Amino acid sequence: MRKRSLPLSQVYRLLEPGPVVLVTTLHRARANVMAQSWHTVMEFEPPLVGCVVGADNHSFAALKATRECVINIPTVALARQTVGCGNTSGRDVDKFAAFGLTPKPASEVAPPMIAECYASLEARVVDTRMVNRYNLFVLEVVKAWVDADEKDPRTLHHRGRGRFMVAGETIHLPSRMK
Ligand SMILES: Cc1cc2nc3c(=O)[nH]c(=O)nc-3n(C[C@H](O)[C@H](O)[C@H](O)COP(=O)(O)O)c2cc1C
Repeated sequence: MRKRSLPLSQVYRLLEPGPVVLVTTLHRARANVMAQSWHTVMEFEPPLVGCVVGADNHSFAALKATRECVINIPTVALARQTVGCGNTSGRDVDKFAAFGLTPKPASEVAPPMIAECYASLEARVVDTRMVNRYNLFVLEVVKAWVDADEKDPRTLHHRGRGRFMVAGETIHLPSRMK
């Protein structure tokens, strides 16, 4: 294996966890969607998820003010719409209308789920101590929905500069992990 030095600005491309998600918020009676890939699971149950949301994003203000969102997980079938939601702002665009996404009422939180997504996680902000420093919101998932018929979802994994890996084959190995 021949290795080359990688610019530090590109390290994120190696560690991008994915899947790319679509985070919905509802603020001042307007629903919005943003693409998000900097997230990490922090606890099994109750499920905690850390999400970095840039302070310039419209979604940041909504999340800070309302403390609720839905983490929707698209598959490759929504690739174009996902990138669209990551390259436009809810300040100027109604992204549900612009990208043909269908809002569906959630059961525990006010922001809508996206009907076309393979899974939707209703979540509340439970810790904002790292928001000022890292734009990191800690969310607790309070209700989770998943497509009952989809066993191997072809989710999107961002590799930087418009490149995405699409999840493929599932393999089974013995493991202590849940
Ligand atoms: C694949 C992809 C992943 C992204 N991941 C993040 C992320 O993790 N955090 C973030 O703040 N912005 C992320 N973005 C950028 C936001 O989605 C983008 O700034 C968007 O315009 C914000 O929309 P809003 O202003 O309506 O909130 C990502 C964009 C793309 C295309």
